[in-house]
Amino acid sequence: MEFYLVKGGCPLTGEVEIAGAKNAALAILAASIMTNETVTVENVPDVSDIRAILRVIEMIGGYVEKIDRHTYRINGSGIRSDVEVNNDLVRRIRGSYYLIGSLLGKYKSAAVAMPGGCNIGPRPIDQHIKGFRALGAAVRVAPPGLVAKASHLRGAHIYQDVVSVGSTINIMMAAVLAEGTTIIENAAKEPHVVDVANFMNSMGARIKGAGTDVIRIRGVERLHGTTYSIIPDQIEAGTFMFAAAATRGDVVVKNVIPKHLESLSAKLIEIGCQVIESDDKVRVSATGRLGKTNIKTLPYPGFPTDMQPQITVVLGLSGGTSIVTENVFESRFKYVDELAKMGASITVEGNSAIIDGVESYVGAHISSPDLRAGAALVIAALAAHGSSEIYDIHYIERGYEDFPEKLRALGADIVKVDTDKDEFGQKLVRVV
Ligand code: UD1
Repeated sequence: MEFYLVKGGCPLTGEVEIAGAKNAALAILAASIMTNETVTVENVPDVSDIRAILRVIEMIGGYVEKIDRHTYRINGSGIRSDVEVNNDLVRRIRGSYYLIGSLLGKYKSAAVAMPGGCNIGPRPIDQHIKGFRALGAAVRVAPPGLVAKASHLRGAHIYQDVVSVGSTINIMMAAVLAEGTTIIENAAKEPHVVDVANFMNSMGARIKGAGTDVIRIRGVERLHGTTYSIIPDQIEAGTFMFAAAATRGDVVVKNVIPKHLESLSAKLIEIGCQVIESDDKVRVSATGRLGKTNIKTLPYPGFPTDMQPQITVVLGLSGGTSIVTENVFESRFKYVDELAKMGASITVEGNSAIIDGVESYVGAHISSPDLRAGAALVIAALAAHGSSEIYDIHYIERGYEDFPEKLRALGADIVKVDTDKDEFGQKLVRVV
C-alpha cells in the first residue's frame, strides 16, 4: 500500500513549474480523434487520468504516439464509426464523457460507458443529454452507458439550466461538425473551455465567444490536423500558492497565466499574504498568522470549487472564524473529518463550513477522500507539527504530476512510501 509520509513544519521556499491543465487535456485529447489527420498535443500533464484517456483512445482503435513525456501524436482514423467505448478506465475518470461529444460529432453515433470521477456529490449529465438532443440526436441510457445517434446533427439554440463545464465542452464538440449554427447560452467560462475552443478552432472549427456566457459555433464539414499546446493548470498552480500560504513560505509559481488565478490571488491578499504577479509567474509569500475571510465557490471567474479544500486548510490555521460555502457540488466537505484528526476546528452545516482557526495542526494518519481534498490534506500535513501519513494517494496522482518531488524541491519533507508484508507477515517499508 502506498502513502505519503510527511514531516511538517518547513516553510516552502523556491520555484515550482506548473504542468499543463488536466481538465483541458482530457477534453482536447478526446477532441483530437475528431479528424482523420494527425494531431500533436504539447504540454500534456503526466498524471493518471490522462494516461487513462490516452489508453482508452488506443483501445478503441486510435493511434497514440508518445513523443516525449508531455507531447503526444494522435490519429483517430482507425476508430470505427460503430465503436463501443466500454471498459473500466472509462468508468474511472470523469473526462471520458467527452468521448460522447467527440464521437457523436464525428460519426453521428456514440456508445460510451458512464463516466466516473471523484465522489463529491451527484454529478448528473442531463445538460449534456439535453444539448445532444437539441442537436438532433436520439439519446438513451442503454448498454454500455449512454447511446446517442443521429442521421445528421443540425445547429440549435441551447440554453443551459446550470453552468456546467462538462456539458458546455461536450455540446461544443458535437456542434462543431453539425449543419448550421449552434448557440450555447449560459455557457461555462472556465479557462479550459476557452482552451478547448482554441484547440478545435486550430483544427478548422468555427467557435466564437468561448470565455463568455454565449458561445456561437458555425458547423464545418470536417476538421484537420494541428499542433497545439495546452494551457497551464490553474488548480495545480493554486494548490502550490495555498501551500506557500499555509506553511508561511515564499514560492514562485512558474508557467502560469496570472489572469486565471485572480480569484485565488485576491483571497490570499485579503487574508494577509503578499502576491506578486508578473508575465507568467506569481510569487506568494506569507509571514506570521493569516487572517479570516469568507468564500463562496462559483463558476469561473468566481472562486473555483476545485480550490475549496485547499483554502479551507489555510483558513483552518488563520485567526478568527471563516465561512466557506460550497455552491457547486453537494458532498465536498468529506475531508473535514480527516482535518479534525489534525486538530482543525471546523463544523459543517449544510453546504457551509464554519472554520474556527487553530494555532497549528498536528500530524496524523489520514486518507484522501478525493483528488483535491487529498492535495489539501498534504498541505495541512506540510504545515503541521510532527509526522503525517496520507493514504489513498491514487486520488492525488490522478491530477498532480510529481507532487512529492515538486514539494521536496521547495524544501518539504515528503516521501512516497510503499508498504508490503514479508512471508512472516512483517511490514516492509520502502521509499518509492
Ligand atoms: C468539471 C471538472 C471538475 C470541476 C468542475 C467544476 C473535469 C473532468 N472536471 O467537472 O474538476 O470541479 O468541472 O468546475 O473537467 N450539472 C448538472 N447537470 C449536468 C452537468 C452538471 O446538474 O448535466 C451540475 C453538477 O452537478 C454541478 C454543476 O452542474 O453541480 C457543475 O458541474 P460541471 O461544471 O459539469 O462539472 P464537471 O464537468 O463534472
